[in-house]
Amino acid sequence: MTTGTVLITGCSSGFGKLTVRTFLDEGWNVVATMRSPEKQSDLVSNERLLVNRLDVTQSETIQSTINAATDRFGTIDAVVNNAGYGGYGLFEQSSEADIRAMFETNVFGPMAVMRAVLPAMREAGRGVIVNVTSMAGHMALPGNAIYSSSKHAIVGLTEAMALEYRPLGIRIFSVAPGAYPTTRFTENTDKRVEEGDAELAAFSHRLRAQIDAVGEQMANQSGTTADPQEVADKIYRCVTTEMPVHNPTGADAEMLIAMMGQADRQTFLDQISDMLVPQHQQVQ
Ligand SMILES: NC(=O)c1ccc[n+]([C@@H]2O[C@H](COP(=O)([O-])OP(=O)(O)OC[C@H]3O[C@@H](n4cnc5c(N)ncnc54)[C@H](OP(=O)(O)O)[C@@H]3O)[C@@H](O)[C@H]2O)c1
Repeated sequence: MTTGTVLITGCSSGFGKLTVRTFLDEGWNVVATMRSPEKQSDLVSNERLLVNRLDVTQSETIQSTINAATDRFGTIDAVVNNAGYGGYGLFEQSSEADIRAMFETNVFGPMAVMRAVLPAMREAGRGVIVNVTSMAGHMALPGNAIYSSSKHAIVGLTEAMALEYRPLGIRIFSVAPGAYPTTRFTENTDKRVEEGDAELAAFSHRLRAQIDAVGEQMANQSGTTADPQEVADKIYRCVTTEMPVHNPTGADAEMLIAMMGQADRQTFLDQISDMLVPQHQQVQ
């Protein structure tokens, strides 16, 4: 597909906003959606850009956006499920409400968007969906159990749906970024370090410090900061060219995929544990 109309979720910042600009620059019509369009001024609707309110946890905003998009542009040829959020915290530092909220946005949100656009794509016999997942969906990260499980869910969903829908003319992809310094994504990361009992909080602090130190060391070794535009470009390539279902993106993602390919899963997990997890307590 060379050009058409793309609908993107979570466009107020980060990868979403960059992806809007990438498709606009390539001549596409773009439906840039976000929870609070009134709070931003960078993206203003014009003849090829429709800025619309869409909260992936509110199905009525999904349907009203699809109606507005088809009124304006006729069809929706591609969808990018980008909206989502992360957050550092040990499993017990996340309340049930925290966990359900994250799954509502990271898993049930993209499901609702796909359920809403698939009938028209099936009728047309064509369409592309790109789910922005995460490397945390290919390997679980300590201190990110809830986020990792939400991204594993969407990676699995994407893989199964790619197989189901390909014969129907619909191509479905996962773009799995490594760590990128998007403006807002890192804001949540310190939220829960202090929560839970003192021993848990102390361990959480030590784990967080070790993960940060490894991240810094890797960034210093590579000598460059990961550029979020790489993710927008990968999304664009999925929509417009032949790409594999899974698209790990970034130097750290490539390194991790290489490590996974060189060892059995337990050896890989032992390496991750040695690298990231402070081993201060003996297992009884
Ligand atoms: N940055 C990374 O290192 C990294 C790595 C792997 C994967 N990812 C994934 O990349 C995607 C984009 O993240 P980002 O790094 O670009 O972070 P970001 O700058 O925080 O962007 C996230 C976007 O999602 C939106 N959003 C959150 N909840 C929403 C909801 N219920 N409905 C609609 N939009 C919602 C946010 O909108 P508001 O302005 O309304 O909050 C924001 O526009 C996420 O799925 C994230 O999991 C990021």
